[in-house]
Amino acid sequence: MSNYHIKHLEEYYQVYRKSVREPENFWEEIAEEHFMWRKKWDKVLSWDFSKPEVKWFEGAKLNITENCIDRHLRTKGDKTAILFEPNNPEEKAQHITYKQLHERVCKMANVLKDQGIKKGDRVCIYLPMIPELAISLLACARIGAIHSVVFAGFSSTALATRINDCDCKMVLTSDGSFRGEKTIDLKGIVDEALGNTQCVETVLVVKRINSGINMKKGRDKWMQPLLDKASKDCEPEIMNAEDPLFILYTSGSTGQPKGMVHTTAGYMVFTAYTFKNVFQYNNDDVYWCTADIGWVTGHSYIVYGPLANGATTVMFEGVPTYPDWGRFWEVVQKHKINQFYTAPTAIRALAKQSLDFVEKYDLSSLKVLGTVGEPINDEAWKWYNDNIGKKKSPIVDTWWQTETGGIMITPIPFVTPTKPTYATLPFIGVQPAIMDENGNEIKGNQVDGRLCIKFPWPGIARTIWGNHERYRDTYFSAYKGMYFSGDGALRDEVGYYRITGRVDDVIIVSGHNLGTAPIEDAINEHPAVAESAIVGFPHDIKGNALYGYVILKETGESRDQNNLRKEINQIIAEHIGPIAKLDKIQFTQGLPKTRSGKIMRRILRKIAQKDTGDLGDTSTLLNPEVVQSIMDNAL
Ligand code: WT7
Repeated sequence: MSNYHIKHLEEYYQVYRKSVREPENFWEEIAEEHFMWRKKWDKVLSWDFSKPEVKWFEGAKLNITENCIDRHLRTKGDKTAILFEPNNPEEKAQHITYKQLHERVCKMANVLKDQGIKKGDRVCIYLPMIPELAISLLACARIGAIHSVVFAGFSSTALATRINDCDCKMVLTSDGSFRGEKTIDLKGIVDEALGNTQCVETVLVVKRINSGINMKKGRDKWMQPLLDKASKDCEPEIMNAEDPLFILYTSGSTGQPKGMVHTTAGYMVFTAYTFKNVFQYNNDDVYWCTADIGWVTGHSYIVYGPLANGATTVMFEGVPTYPDWGRFWEVVQKHKINQFYTAPTAIRALAKQSLDFVEKYDLSSLKVLGTVGEPINDEAWKWYNDNIGKKKSPIVDTWWQTETGGIMITPIPFVTPTKPTYATLPFIGVQPAIMDENGNEIKGNQVDGRLCIKFPWPGIARTIWGNHERYRDTYFSAYKGMYFSGDGALRDEVGYYRITGRVDDVIIVSGHNLGTAPIEDAINEHPAVAESAIVGFPHDIKGNALYGYVILKETGESRDQNNLRKEINQIIAEHIGPIAKLDKIQFTQGLPKTRSGKIMRRILRKIAQKDTGDLGDTSTLLNPEVVQSIMDNAL
């Protein structure tokens, strides 16, 4: 019998040791006993990080939606699978049972097929947090189409880039979305994006806000009439273990986002097993992750992980501030939430409000609290622990990435003693290493360095869509034979890990992963801008905010600086999305550069962080004099 559900610390250590000593045997037992296979694998794992190549459960055949839906029908057909809580608290919540989910997924899958979508085709999903979003992921998976969800806060330019990168044949969207008091014209954004794409043949539109939108003849179709006509039976496409399940874009160090490719069997086993243990999910629990399905957190821990366990998973359409700052806690009370998973940035914003918003509600159903997306600071951790968990619900600070597919370093609640700001111990099967700058592993405790993973886990992304070389260069070249995360980490005296933040050109703002290069590219499009450099600085709600140093062309120098700042942020919003706007913009005559022409961001970072006591070695600078003038004019 495999240890599918770990219940105490000794068991964790015992299972962890087994997962490291005999990973193949360990994952084979988990896969064998807890999932539904059309055919078992020939080989559990083959891998070579130098290529890099990783294959789990090769030879196996399955469909992930059979695991997430069909196999629960007999025992849990009438259990709520998806509990939809609308933006407007006056609108009724929807309880979608496993039976209903099955029918809705099959119908949508048939619609996709009728519209010409086949196994391996890419379907772009640009939908708000409504049930059709989760259903559309599953409908793609049902027929073997590869979904590429783009967060519905991304701009039309960002959407077009992602549609083109993987040649999507179809876009699924809605006539708009509700967001607090606002509505957003998603279809208008799609129309704009499609002006810059050639590959999309069909756009299917879900009605949500009843706005009058333009429907382009021959291309755009309303979803509902097609669903009404579709059959409610759809045989699942039988997939190979390593067939791609989805593509999800994440930022990198160039303007082109990286389309991380996740495959079927390993991803399913890893997200299901982590979900069960990290949230200690029990049969009648109601689980709520506040993330958007546009991010990997939503893929793995709203859709696939929970449904593979037959869980009830909440989908929330709204925002934490509407109708007021009590909304999260109102929903916790209303649906008697047992596990609550959110982002540190939300916790920091909520902690700034009056406690009345919390105390009005009965939060006694809560058993486990989680955080993800960025380091959680001590103050926020304690506020969460004291006021939401009432010191009785363990907090799981879960470290992972779009690339890892699932949770990698985390406490197991009621099992691992927690420690504020620490993600604590590696999850079962995860082998972290702390590396120094010369590429050597730092063994022992009380050390810090760069966080790598030494051995493959089933959820690892297999490649970057269309660019395997970039995949190798980004993740497997800095440290030989290892996966490099891009994060710094320390290991304390008992072996607990604490993530210290990114060590590359990615900045995490409000839990969103932003590359500096795409933002700089956007700014440089402004006709008055000659050059720019972006760094992060600490912000008490967002974690980090963005600070831009901008060199103007001669034509820009006479312009009003505040107008220029507005225009620059406008361009960023258009190219990427409002989440990437700059908090501070300093105009400067020059940027500190090395002799080879590289911007020395280390110095800019220190200035933005108001930490200019020791700027470190500046002797390799081509233009040291510029540093003083930047410091004098710092914001
Ligand atoms: C980056 C990955 C994983 C889903 C959401 C983000 C940071 C993530 C933690 C944590 C400290 C964290 C890292 C990581 N991060 N979780 N618990 N503590 N930092 O996915 O957009 O791919 O971002 O988020 O810097 O590399 P992502």
